[in-house]
Amino acid sequence: MDWGIQNRLNRIIDPTDGRTVMLAVDHGYFLGPTRKLEDPAATIKPLLPSADALMLTRGILRTSVDPATATPMVLRVSGGTSVVGPTLADECLTVSFEDAIRLNVAAVALSIFVGTDHERQTLQSLTELVDEGETYGIPVLAVTAVGKELEKRDARYLGLCCRIAAELGAHFVKTYYCDDFEKVTSSCPVPVVIAGGPKLETEMDALQLAHDAIAQGAAGVDMGRNIWQSDYPVPMIRAVREVVHNNARPAEAHELFLELKAAVDSGKAI
Ligand code: R5P
Repeated sequence: MDWGIQNRLNRIIDPTDGRTVMLAVDHGYFLGPTRKLEDPAATIKPLLPSADALMLTRGILRTSVDPATATPMVLRVSGGTSVVGPTLADECLTVSFEDAIRLNVAAVALSIFVGTDHERQTLQSLTELVDEGETYGIPVLAVTAVGKELEKRDARYLGLCCRIAAELGAHFVKTYYCDDFEKVTSSCPVPVVIAGGPKLETEMDALQLAHDAIAQGAAGVDMGRNIWQSDYPVPMIRAVREVVHNNARPAEAHELFLELKAAVDSGKAI
């Protein structure tokens, strides 16, 4: 791997343990003002010190993140569709590579919609982005998107998507956790991170999800709603870090979550 690509990836995925806690706040690009992300700056600010990387759009980066931050940015560069439009899969590239470079990003990210009418166009966008990424030393994250079809999240489909993304040159892949997840990670030659998906019922459920993904070969999480839609987002991201970076069991991480939550409730700094 080219030095620049490897160096940028190492800023996102800690080379000492091969793990990462990415914070996803890009949802507005197709969902608009998602619950608890209505004011992105307010959501991002307290969480940023606990994130290994932030995944977001250029609009939110420019308007809502302090440029003094040292946290690496993973810039979403695909979109063009919305949750109220005919299909989420009809995405195109939405950012020029020059602008990504200007923003000093650590990686660029796009969604691929394998098995849809827009499979070819999104995979072609991936290959164009990989060519640009290789030229300028910026890694590409492929997101195996399922749109509104959450039932597609099984090992056969996600394994196919992740492998195709890696074959086409993606430097790391983001997908969903599923049963037999080890089949997905073991057949993908680049690091795999998982999205959290819609908010689960409890914090413990999300910690269990992160734990199971790591146990089955994930390099970490690129989690959004299960962190910032929690009533205690900072304790939650800190608990996720315990699972991802310190191999904590879900119950141990949940214990930490409860301690930090109690500290927040009593007005103590955490
Ligand atoms: C997916 O493509 C979205 O852009 C989000 O980045 C992703 O779904 C991760 O966030 P969440 O954990 O809320 O699913």
